[in-house]
Amino acid sequence: MSRAVAQTGANFAMQVLLREEEWAAHLREKTRLGLQGTPPWIPPVWFYDETGSELFDAITRLPEYYPTEAERSILRAHADEIVALADVDTFVELGAGSSEKTRLLLQAGVQHGRLDRVVPVDCSETFLAACSADLANAFPTLSVQGVVADFTSHLGQLVHSDRRMVMFMGSTIGNFDRDDRASFLADIAADQGPGDCFLLGTDLVKPAARLLTAYDDSRGVTARFNLNALTVMNRQLDADFEVDAFRHRAWWDDEGSRIQMHLVATRDTGASVGAFDDLRVDFPEGSHLLTEYSTKFTRDQVAAELADVGLTVAGSWTDPNDDFLLTLARRT
Ligand code: AVI
Repeated sequence: MSRAVAQTGANFAMQVLLREEEWAAHLREKTRLGLQGTPPWIPPVWFYDETGSELFDAITRLPEYYPTEAERSILRAHADEIVALADVDTFVELGAGSSEKTRLLLQAGVQHGRLDRVVPVDCSETFLAACSADLANAFPTLSVQGVVADFTSHLGQLVHSDRRMVMFMGSTIGNFDRDDRASFLADIAADQGPGDCFLLGTDLVKPAARLLTAYDDSRGVTARFNLNALTVMNRQLDADFEVDAFRHRAWWDDEGSRIQMHLVATRDTGASVGAFDDLRVDFPEGSHLLTEYSTKFTRDQVAAELADVGLTVAGSWTDPNDDFLLTLARRT
């Protein structure tokens, strides 16, 4: 279902493909299944209430957490080159958030001359509307068309043109498990037209010790971010997790090439979840709740996973420390 929700100014429109109730029902079902898994797991979405978003913002400014600054530095150095190679009239940004780093690409796109439309896509209507309005003010020559959607199921319904650059930045793809990542990339590839391209941000493999400090920082910000997921579920799912009965733990999973974040029970505890008919989940001391994967890639792995779905690398860029990778790909 689609409905226009806002028209503020000549260059700004919003479209809703995903209604809040549908999204909430989808997340609840995923969470209900996850909590009954072995080990129990939850989708990372529960990190991000207002407090969680502030904590994530604080994480991105920690000296130990390099990905955000590394990606920004690539965009600062190479935005012109990226937009010239892409040569598109439309940017579609999946999971746009505040589109803060994307502004560097937008500036370059406006200067390059062909870009006339940007389509930020996100699941939160209020946040997306505010951010899209800001973009429309900052880029008066662009048409800004915010779309509230779940990009894992609405890809085919997003704006199409002959020349789009679909963007998935910030290493969010690292938070998918292997199967979800493969099916997401296959959907992206299937949706690409001949003049389209795909810009992907991925975090690169590096020594485990460095990764561990990025996901278990000395100030405990990541620990608070992880534990906050329990507080959010208590409030939004009418649950009664004992937050003080868990501690944050992050480790490097070499086989999966990923950081795993867990909450570990420090004593026997358990929770009832009112939203799931008082579903009871027990956590004996030492047991785990899996909260997030953060996969790290090599250049070759990114190219191979893109090739598996019929996409060829047209260009790739790293920061001076080789921490992060941006890859532009097209259908073969
Ligand atoms: C959002 N995502 C790319 C972050 C990451 O690095 O995987 C989330 C995060 N989790 C802990 N710190 C940051």
